Amino acid sequence: MPVKGQNRTFLLDAKRLPRHVAVIMDGNGRWARKRGLPRMEGHREGMNSVRSIIRKCGELGISYLTLYAFSTENWKRPGREVRFLMQLLIQYLKKELTELDRQGVRIAMLGSRERVPTEVLGSIDQALAQTKNNRGLKLNLAFNYGGRREVLDAVEVFLKKRPRPVLSESSFASCLYTAGLPDPDLLIRTSGEMRISNFLLWQLAYAEIVVSPVLWPDFRERELLRCLREFQKRERRFGGVKSVHA
Ligand code: FPP
Repeated sequence: MPVKGQNRTFLLDAKRLPRHVAVIMDGNGRWARKRGLPRMEGHREGMNSVRSIIRKCGELGISYLTLYAFSTENWKRPGREVRFLMQLLIQYLKKELTELDRQGVRIAMLGSRERVPTEVLGSIDQALAQTKNNRGLKLNLAFNYGGRREVLDAVEVFLKKRPRPVLSESSFASCLYTAGLPDPDLLIRTSGEMRISNFLLWQLAYAEIVVSPVLWPDFRERELLRCLREFQKRERRFGGVKSVHA
């Protein structure tokens, strides 16, 4: 473990990076308010952080990145903000898809398609189709995602299976939106809040949680690296006693 100097500056160990990083991108509203701007401007600037974090994760060789872009609870926001967030995803994909494709990013959506406008679903589906053969970073956009909803959807999928599988952690997990994906090793939540907010309730069972004080629109490569270093300082035991490093 490379630890340098008296103040124990911790360098990133490329061999012990998390395989799957999940992020709750919080603080867009506060970022805007601090600048006397409408909340939407925080979301718009947040898009630049999304670009920068995806690029860095790809460069580092992280395999999976899951971003919480819109929760099932976010429908409770004012209609204008909801519409803005929907349009922002469309704009984001329109603007970034070519570059994401060039970087080898494979996009997937985690969430329910219910209530999501057809136009939004259309651009998500196009992004999925265009990047489906890419071999780089697997980017999961959690959009209209709710952890409890996911569990209920999984129960329905499970009950419809014929022949009915034996109920086990793995047979159930294969019915979740995240079927086939490894669980996140690291959950980053920005803006200092210490909540899970209905995100990946099943999958985060043994994730290391790092809460960054930085508001999402200010969360760029440097803070990502700090969070990854924090992760590498943790000792992961998965409920056991033996010291197992990430
Ligand atoms: C939480 O901040 C953020 C959201 C509900 C939306 C996240 C969306 C983005 C980062 C925009 C771009 C993303 C993509 C993938 C296009 P908040 O509004 O709850 O902030 P607050 O807690 O300070 O009010």
